[in-house]
Amino acid sequence: MTSTETHLLPATPAGIADAAARLGKGQLVALPTETVYGLGADARLSEAVAAIYAAKGRPSFNPLIVHVATPDAAKRYVDWPKAAERLAAAFWPGPLTLVLPLRRGHGIASLVTAGLESLAIRCPAHPVAQALLTEFDGPVAAPSANPSGKISPTTAAHVLQGLNGKVSAVLDGGAAEIGLESTIVSLTGAPTLLRHGSITADMLAAALGAPLAEATTPAAITAPGQLASHYAPDAALRLNATATETGEALLGFGAVAGAELNLSPAGDLREAAANLFTMLRRLDETASKIAVSPVPETGVGIAINDRLKRAAAPR
Ligand code: TXA
Ligand code: MG
Repeated sequence: MTSTETHLLPATPAGIADAAARLGKGQLVALPTETVYGLGADARLSEAVAAIYAAKGRPSFNPLIVHVATPDAAKRYVDWPKAAERLAAAFWPGPLTLVLPLRRGHGIASLVTAGLESLAIRCPAHPVAQALLTEFDGPVAAPSANPSGKISPTTAAHVLQGLNGKVSAVLDGGAAEIGLESTIVSLTGAPTLLRHGSITADMLAAALGAPLAEATTPAAITAPGQLASHYAPDAALRLNATATETGEALLGFGAVAGAELNLSPAGDLREAAANLFTMLRRLDETASKIAVSPVPETGVGIAINDRLKRAAAPR
């Protein structure tokens, strides 16, 4: 892969215009969203999309999420059943990805969908992402901006740690507020939860007026977030630790003693989600073994535990 100089762009009108121009030229631009930073390219340009896979070192069978500014823009590319209308009305713009049947004449490069007949699409809420998508006025394919299998980036600095020299620019929108990748729901058949996130199954069921199914793994791996080992630090991870063993650094949750870092001393799950990837990265820099306090399996805790289990899985 060719190495390029990576520009760090500020979230000013000039920086956003510069980022949009780079996307227009088929270059890779990392962009902030409220979940994690994305590694963006024009989803209509095969070569630009191929460059995403190359920069991430991602197996090419993993399809990408397309980002647009508005639900109306999404409807240019996908069919729009009533369930999509309901979920978009409730949660867009926001941390929810919908998998929908591709429309005829969609123009999306087949590398984006890895040849599937469906497209994962979302409308991010981050004001800088909104500004960039509005200015660019096209579909932006963007997986999380990290080398494949590693921890997702929640700051521009994280993006540079993993991808410096491999992307044209990083648009700096500050630290991601949510810190966990979007919830993914498939609407190609009965509504099915493909990936847990900060929008919980209960919230989705309330908006749909019916409970949704949960995808069973590993029958068909349609999301790398479903791969057993993912989001992995270099250090070994031990979960549900109520005490530390020799050589372990403790990542605490709630009122625990002796924690090197604490996801949320007050036991707030949203705060813990926002801190999770940053704190795993920080501990990974100094510790070879990380123990993690139990995190309750309720609300956003379900998505936090999902990421922790995959980070701890054998590699
Ligand atoms: O929060 C997020 O979703 C972030 C930000 C940048 O938007 N993006 C993200 O992308 O997490 P990525 O590539 O790391 O995860 C995208 C997930 C993958 O698990 C992929 O397999 C799934 O979406 N996906 C994409 N297209 C799909 C499709 N047609 N059917 C089922 N799953 C799909
Ligand atoms: Mg990812």
